[in-house]
Parts: sequence; structure tokens; C-alpha cells
Amino acid sequence: MNEKQLKIANSKVHRHQAANKTDRLGETPLKAAISVAPLKPENAVMCRRCGNRPARYKSPWCDACVGEAAKMRREAREKRATILGVVPELFQVARMCHLSAGVRKIIDDLPKWKGLFLWSPPGVGKTYAMAAIARRMIWRGRTVARSSYEMLCLEIRDTFKPKAVETELAVIKKYLEPDVLFIEDVGTTKAIGEQESDFSRRTFLVLLDQRLEQCKATFVTSNKSVEDLRASFDSRIASRIQQACEVIELKGKDRRRVND
Ligand SMILES: Nc1ncnc2c1ncn2[C@@H]1O[C@H](COP(=O)(O)OP(=O)(O)OP(=O)(O)O)[C@@H](O)[C@H]1O
Ligand SMILES: [Mg+2]
Ligand SMILES: [Zn+2]
Repeated sequence: MNEKQLKIANSKVHRHQAANKTDRLGETPLKAAISVAPLKPENAVMCRRCGNRPARYKSPWCDACVGEAAKMRREAREKRATILGVVPELFQVARMCHLSAGVRKIIDDLPKWKGLFLWSPPGVGKTYAMAAIARRMIWRGRTVARSSYEMLCLEIRDTFKPKAVETELAVIKKYLEPDVLFIEDVGTTKAIGEQESDFSRRTFLVLLDQRLEQCKATFVTSNKSVEDLRASFDSRIASRIQQACEVIELKGKDRRRVND
């Protein structure tokens, strides 16, 4: 029984007792006296969760605790749906505990505004690691966006078409607003030493620069080192990657080559 129900029950008993005390002529009360002791909070069964409030009728918990638990279940459901939307299906199984202790330690020590620049040859596990990190960020309540760099550029280029509905600014904003952004495979469509287009350079610079200014974390993966990106993009971009991200070279074999 909660506090409200308790009050109603008590007031009913008090009214009943008042009516039975005397009638105006001092005659026998019309209604028979009934011996119902008013329900006091100290007699009530207390909530088994918080111990502070009387438990609900036929429930071990109080109203507030029942409401709180329902809210937590709803939030967990929403977070699970967000993870399904952000993390690709193949990487839904990725968890932080699957990563090496060294990488986990670096991630744990990252300040809120700082991301990772994870680079390695193909198949070593960059996307897998990013999926595990994205999952953790979402569980911690941070807003997350994820895209491969090439898809992001395609999305922006689409806005240049005469009949495009979305503006370039709207697409860029979609990647500027979330607390954490994951951009995969930056610079991987060009061979080492080959120059990125002006469009690609401008897009990456705007994203990195604006997110740095707003102290929002950006996580980047690439098959190229920061120095290779300095050559194919420019030094302004390389400099910002080094400021915005902890640089990690992921070591290991190509996990896609199962027979090696
Ligand atoms: N820690 C891990 N535990 C189990 N499987 C893993 C792990 N890391 C990667 N894998 C598996 O190895 C394969 C390659 O990993 P992933 O796609 O992350 O590589 P990558 O470094 O992103 O490659 P690329 O540079 O080509 O994008 C995937 O199928 C992935 O599921
Ligand atoms: Mg990858
Ligand atoms: Zn309670």
C-alpha cells in the first residue's frame, strides 16, 4: 500500500470513528462501532527495494521504485534499438572484453572529448574494436553516429544534385551534433601517396575542426598512418587528427584469412 492509499484508508477510518462517537442527543450511535485500527506507516510493509516508503498493494516495491524500474527498462530497450541502428549486423557481437588489455586501458583513460585513430592493414580488427566502443558509448548514454568516410562523402555529394531534398549543411550537421562520431576507412580509396580531392580534404577538415572546437570525440579508422594521411590530405588534417585522437597502430594478422 502506498502513502496515498494509506491516507485514504486512514481518513475513512477516522470519519467512521467520528460518526460513531456520539450523536447530537447523546444517544447510542446509530452505526455500530467497528474496531478498525487506523493504518499507520509504522505498521505498513515497507518497500523491499528502497526500504523508505510503504510497499504498493500486492507488490514488494513502493510506487516510486516500480516507476523507476519501468523507466530503466524503457531506457535499456531504447539503447538496444540505438545499438542495432549504429553497429553493423556483422559486428553486433563485438564487446570491449574481446579487445586486448592494452587497447582497453587506452580507451578507459581517454578524456571525454578525445577519440582514437586506429590504423592497421586490412582485417586486423579496427571495425570490430570500434563496434565494441560504440556499444559502450551508447550504454553510457552518449549520442553516437557512425559512417564510412566514403559513404559520408557520397551522402554529401548527393546533395549537389539539382533535385536533392537534403542540403549539404544538414548532412554535415548530422555528423557534427552527436557526442561521438565514428568515421571508418579514411583515405583508403586512394593509394599511398595519391592525393585526395579538394572536396574530400574540405569535408574531413570541416568535420575534424568543428568537432574539435565543440570538444566532441571523433574516432577514426584507416589503413594508412597519420603520416600517410598528411601526404594524401594535408598537414592541417594530420595535425588535427593528432590533437583529436589517441593514435594506435593495431597489430595482428588478417583475421579474414582463416587458412593462414
Ligand atoms: N577481437 C576480435 N574477436 C573476434 N573476431 C574479430 C576480432 N577482431 C576482428 N574480428 C573479426 O575479424 C574480421 C575482420 O575484422 P575487421 O573488419 O574489424 O577488420 P578491419 O581492421 O576493420 O579491416 P579493414 O581495414 O579491411 O576494414 C571480422 O569478421 C571480425 O568479425
Ligand atoms: Mg574495417
Ligand atoms: Zn521503494
